[in-house]
Amino acid sequence: MKKGKVDALLGIVFGDEGKGKVVDCFTPRYDVVARFAGGPNAGHTIIFEGKKFVLRSIPSGIFDEGKLNIIGNGCVIAPDLFMQEAQELEAAGYDLKSRLHISKRAHLILPTHRVLDRAYEAAKGKNKVGTTGKGIGPTYSEKASRTGLRVGDILADFQQKYATLKARHMQVLQDLHYTDFDITEEEKLWMQGIEYMREFQLTDTEIELGKALAEGKNVLAEGAQGTMLDIDHGTYPFVSSSNTVSGGVCTGLGVAPNSIGEVFGIFKAYSTRVGSGPFPVELFDETGDKIREIGHEYGAVTGRNRRCGWLDLVALKYAIMINGVTQLIMMKSDVLDTFDTIRVCVAYQKDGVTTTDMPYDTEGWQAVYEDLPGWKTDLTQMTSEAQFPQQLKDYITYIEKATSTPITIVSVGPDRAQTIERMALDFRL
Ligand code: IMP
Repeated sequence: MKKGKVDALLGIVFGDEGKGKVVDCFTPRYDVVARFAGGPNAGHTIIFEGKKFVLRSIPSGIFDEGKLNIIGNGCVIAPDLFMQEAQELEAAGYDLKSRLHISKRAHLILPTHRVLDRAYEAAKGKNKVGTTGKGIGPTYSEKASRTGLRVGDILADFQQKYATLKARHMQVLQDLHYTDFDITEEEKLWMQGIEYMREFQLTDTEIELGKALAEGKNVLAEGAQGTMLDIDHGTYPFVSSSNTVSGGVCTGLGVAPNSIGEVFGIFKAYSTRVGSGPFPVELFDETGDKIREIGHEYGAVTGRNRRCGWLDLVALKYAIMINGVTQLIMMKSDVLDTFDTIRVCVAYQKDGVTTTDMPYDTEGWQAVYEDLPGWKTDLTQMTSEAQFPQQLKDYITYIEKATSTPITIVSVGPDRAQTIERMALDFRL
């Protein structure tokens, strides 16, 4: 039997590209949808049939009956937030317990990890990362230092393991003089979350995936955050704490590199970033405000204003290289409908030096732009590429040529229906 493949769908800039909607559209083509990195710092918004859902830890394939969804070993999970997210879906009529398996190797985010996240950020002062405050960094740090708790730990002697780790955290917090907090209520809810998680299938998901692939089943790996937030390849230290790139699919799910098929790179027709850190294309003027307003660019998890700017080809090309992107998906094209001119960053400049390669330290670089004419047309009702205005076609061709990668899907609005396939995608049909 022909072995199945793992296709990856990845945000390839700073996240928030709209992965949730695309995964949801793709799900019918796959047998399994799996999350491989990150945790409740993600917020995948899905809108269909007039209902809006924000998924944080749960894969976007959950709406599709008959699909297996997996939270892989590379993820971190907060039991209380997971319970809230899952119960909302259950209340909306989705049967999670039969369709969602959680890796025993995924790490648990404790309430004290969240306090540590805040404490470390406070200690950084002006250099703070601007984290989501969900305890992501401290949990992954603890994974690396081999002191963390994993989902499998809840199956035996859990209270004792929890108490030991919590005591260690409290000691660190005391050393940091960060003692003005009360997690009593949070902890109660968290423990309820632990009990709730016991009702799920906590499994060796890498083995399940291995068997599924051997049986010819296909898997969609749903990314979180984006390449520029990758712990190794992003704008360190202003990054998240996991490998968000395609390499992270292998380690975060336990699948072999030669099982990877298509790598879909998802980006917006412009750029956004939440949190601190270098962002050479950032616009501080009314154009940036206009993009934010039209694009509703406010964080799905934290509600923060997203920083906005034009498309950054330096970052895009770098991400395509790192991830081995085979197809690009351009989101939120309709946000640019009213602009006379659309700018594209083609290089960075600093101290008389111009580069088209992503520099080690992106701080202080200025964007060099090329200008293209806007299409000044409402794209939101369009249903096929044939209806696209010439300027949009030119914008697409410009990006394809610059990146040597085809754009196979163009999104023109938040609904599932506003997703236009440009060419017959012959994968997994
Ligand atoms: P953390 O992942 O909460 O530690 O945050 C680290 C950095 O990644 C911060 O700049 C966050 O704003 C950013 N970040 C984390 N998750 C997301 C996401 O899902 N979308 C966009 N940015 C994110």
